[in-house]
Amino acid sequence: MLDIKTIEKLESIATPFYYYDMDLFRRTIDHVAEMAERYNIKIHYAVKANVERRLLEEISAKGFGADCVSGNEVLHAHDCGFPADKIVFAGVGKSDKEIYNSLKLGIEAFNCESLQELYVINEMAHIHGVKARVSVRINPDIDAHTHKYVTTGLYENKFGISQHEFEKLIDILKKSENIQFYGLHFHIGSQITRVDEVFALECQRVNEIVAYFERQGLKVDNINLGGGLGVDYDDPDENPIADFETWFQTISDNIVKRDDQTVHVEPGRSLVAQCATLISRVLFVKSGETKNFLIMDAGMNDLIRPALYGAYHKIENLSAAQRTFFPTHQAYDIVGPVCESSDVWGAGRLLPLSVRGDIMAIRSTGAYGQVMASRYNMKDLAPSVFSDAIENAPEAVDYFE
Ligand code: LLP
Repeated sequence: MLDIKTIEKLESIATPFYYYDMDLFRRTIDHVAEMAERYNIKIHYAVKANVERRLLEEISAKGFGADCVSGNEVLHAHDCGFPADKIVFAGVGKSDKEIYNSLKLGIEAFNCESLQELYVINEMAHIHGVKARVSVRINPDIDAHTHKYVTTGLYENKFGISQHEFEKLIDILKKSENIQFYGLHFHIGSQITRVDEVFALECQRVNEIVAYFERQGLKVDNINLGGGLGVDYDDPDENPIADFETWFQTISDNIVKRDDQTVHVEPGRSLVAQCATLISRVLFVKSGETKNFLIMDAGMNDLIRPALYGAYHKIENLSAAQRTFFPTHQAYDIVGPVCESSDVWGAGRLLPLSVRGDIMAIRSTGAYGQVMASRYNMKDLAPSVFSDAIENAPEAVDYFE
């Protein structure tokens, strides 16, 4: 929870903005580094969750690698301190330009998602006289028991190469002279909360697939299990740091590996989600025919998760929390300013009596928030404000002065 002095400062800043709790961010990455060392698991931060330079610089300084899904992410990660040999590049649709730039940079590995992609990388590596390290992303056909839009490891999903192509795949890997087989890659989904059950199942399936590849004569040096660890959106104060220990313990209990094999994971959300809060201001309070609307200045253009996935984010009225009189509570439909009926932050949310000018905290917005923002309705992009540099934030203008 924020103290009163911080809330007063936040009230003076132009809204909406993403407020980063740098102390929580550092505690999170310190904890992950400690757990990774204890369980001997290599971390590649999934850059797609948040590309904020200050975060990336601190994550790369911890010695973690980067998991990227576009050429621009590869270049940006490198620019923020990730050495090329700690950058992996996944994605079903890598363009020729993206492949070329990554080959030139000498990245750790491409995580290839189709047979055709392997031909293209082999050919381009040959023409440019280099050898490409390639892991193969496998679709293990496992249900991650999460939202259907963030499920990636079922045969109905577009990701990875599935079993019926294994024979051809192995043949290509053996015959492609400009490809060095690096390992196997998996990622079955995101915001996984049934951690022990789902990741145990993933590991068991991975063990079978690794054994199959090795029987076919391909040594699997690197086993990359992807990301997916869920965070607590309901109660971010109770669980500010995701349960990395259960995740890593489950992996270590279930994965079969030799000492010469390395296990990698690619957390995105769990590293950054809880450290940011989208701060927005109440513009108007409107009583509709059947409900009360709180109309905020942040909308689906700033954070599309509720509109796109029906995702829940905890919302608090920070200004009302400071008022000394005992607040009456009221149910509100909290909505944004965008001209779409799906621009709703939360329906029927019980909040202290809220008034124009109050600032509101939309919690757990550090992952897939700013990176998915758009300028729809020609809105400005919400900037970042850091807890350790709060004095640099732009002051709100008082147009009544
Ligand atoms: N590795 C790969 C190959 C991925 O595709 C992803 C996420 C990750 C790692 C990181 O997963 P995480 O640890 O963050 O769960 N926009 C959605 C989430 C999409 C996730 C896409 N892939 C959301 O807002 O919930």
